[in-house]
Amino acid sequence: MGNFFPRWTNWLPLKLAVAAGFVVFGVSLAVPYYFTPKYTRVGYQPSQPVPFSHQIHAGQLGLDCRYCHSFVEASGHANVPTNQTCINCHGPGKGNIKSNSPKLAKVIAAAETGKPIEWVKIHKAPDYVYFNHSAHLNRGISCQSCHGRIDQMEVVHHAEPQSMGWCLDCHRNPEKNLRPLEQVTNLKYDPAQLDRSAFYQNLLGKGIAPAEIAQSIDPSRSAANLADLVSLAEGRYGKQVTQLEVGSQLKKHWQVQPPENCTACHR
Ligand code: HEC
Ligand code: HEC
Ligand code: HEC
Ligand code: HEC
Ligand code: HEC
Repeated sequence: MGNFFPRWTNWLPLKLAVAAGFVVFGVSLAVPYYFTPKYTRVGYQPSQPVPFSHQIHAGQLGLDCRYCHSFVEASGHANVPTNQTCINCHGPGKGNIKSNSPKLAKVIAAAETGKPIEWVKIHKAPDYVYFNHSAHLNRGISCQSCHGRIDQMEVVHHAEPQSMGWCLDCHRNPEKNLRPLEQVTNLKYDPAQLDRSAFYQNLLGKGIAPAEIAQSIDPSRSAANLADLVSLAEGRYGKQVTQLEVGSQLKKHWQVQPPENCTACHR
């Protein structure tokens, strides 16, 4: 008798085993994926009841974040604005901007009935996590560090992972993100555009001794005045102000110490 089964069938059991292996492997990857809530994934972008664009309002029009998210600096929770804020500009007989646009029909109807628009929540920490906005903003952490360039987004999406590792990454090295308080809602902020002399003058104005400021620029040198500090910093960081320069000064002089112990975030 000739060979009834073709030769390749000898490999069949092995192929099946390999295929089964891939299936098991695939499922083990997929399970945590399906059980991870959608709102903790980078890129998560639900659709909203009204096509509100941050790119228009915060980008082109240049409205400050706090015009709408008015509690963000004072409270643990950021708020989404009420219809009244929109109506100031879009309301018929008030701002009248595009008040006949179909894209605004829901906003105008909602203002008349007093029923709020049900915006879909995009960022949400699990219930067992304690998070506070004002504690971050008042320590020089910008919206941008956690939400990305919202001012360029047509529709808001997750720019950052929002995971525990992500929180801890910044808590361990806050100098990478600290900026002067007046810059926290400036999403176009670039440390290279800061005026070095004004930056150090500001620290001196808080009563910090020049020698102490010099310590974080170059521990082997000292400084007696503003001019010394500026030339020390130029030697160390170059012509333009850098994030490391700003961050390490602010960390030291504001005594920034983000918590890493479990009970700080899980109370
Ligand atoms: C004209 C009002 C307005 C301004 C100005 C504004 N926002 Fe918003 N923001 C909204 C509205 C309305 C929503 C809810 C709808 C949406 O997600 O687009 C929102 C949603 C958000 C969200 C998502 C909220 C969630 O559910 O997780 C973030 C983050 C955010 N804004 C950040 C910013 C930042 C940062 C700025 C400043 C650069 C800013 N916003 C400026 C009105 C505004
Ligand atoms: C400071 C004034 C101002 C506020 C406050 C404001 N808007 Fe606007 N909005 C504008 C301007 C200006 C435009 C651009 C109009 C244009 O394209 O000519 C616009 C455009 C829009 C559009 C697009 C309309 C279209 O037909 O293209 C929508 C939708 C919208 N806004 C929703 C909102 C919502 C929702 C809020 C409240 C959370 C809000 N706006 C708050 C000024 C404002
Ligand atoms: C240190 C990181 C961090 C910074 C800085 C930060 N946010 Fe958030 N934001 C978060 C987290 C985390 C959540 C989810 C919080 C929750 O579920 O309690 C959130 C949620 C929000 C929400 C949704 C609130 C709601 O209840 O629907 C808005 C709006 C928002 N942030 C706006 C802002 C604005 C505007 C700024 C800057 C002025 C800012 N955030 C700065 C991390 C941050
Ligand atoms: C980009 C940097 C950054 C990120 C991201 C960040 N933090 Fe912080 N966090 C800080 C800084 C800076 C402080 C202030 C420390 C101080 O005051 O000395 C702080 C303080 C805190 C505190 C103590 C203040 C308070 O409210 O009791 C808690 C809790 C906290 N963060 C939780 C979180 C959680 C939860 C996340 C992630 C969802 C997070 N942080 C993400 C920088 C960050
Ligand atoms: C800076 C804030 C912060 C600190 C400190 C922190 N956690 Fe978390 N933790 C979080 C956040 C935010 C989440 C939610 C992550 C998510 O939704 O993906 C989380 C999630 C968890 C989870 C759920 C499982 C998971 O990974 O999703 C466990 C368990 C946990 N943390 C344990 C701890 C322990 C133990 C410590 C101390 C060693 C600790 N955490 C310290 C912020 C923190």
